[in-house]
Amino acid sequence: MKILVINGPNLNMLGIREPGIYGSQSYAALVGFVSDVCAQHGVKAEFFQSNHEGAIVDAIQGAYGVMDGIVINPAAYTHTSVAILDALKAVSIPAVEVHLSDVSAREPFRQVSYAGMACEATFAGHGFDGYRMAVEYLIEHHG
Ligand code: DQA
Repeated sequence: MKILVINGPNLNMLGIREPGIYGSQSYAALVGFVSDVCAQHGVKAEFFQSNHEGAIVDAIQGAYGVMDGIVINPAAYTHTSVAILDALKAVSIPAVEVHLSDVSAREPFRQVSYAGMACEATFAGHGFDGYRMAVEYLIEHHG
């Protein structure tokens, strides 16, 4: 099984940005954590991070016919991007949404998730562990 792990804007700043909300570990540490989880399950993982909406759309389109699952934290684009929603629907690859923070307990503008409308499950508020849950969800349902 091959999984693409997509992280959106400002997640490259993990460890620096608002550590009280997003934790003190870096993006590199996140990639290491998810790589280990995937290796333990014999899953191949690829990682993509971008601060640009169109680049994320391109990455989703590029997964068509190549990847068996997508784990996506669209970050701020979660709450704004119909383009990312449409890309996920276009490729029809099983997708799971992750948020480090518990978006349901935050500002009203974070209560809408466009990307989530094309995802089978959402794990929010579990920090890095949410990515493990998403990978294991995909293995359980599509592995
Ligand atoms: C986030 C939550 C979003 O609302 C926010 O814009 C982010 C990160 C999270 O992982 O908790 O950048 O997706």
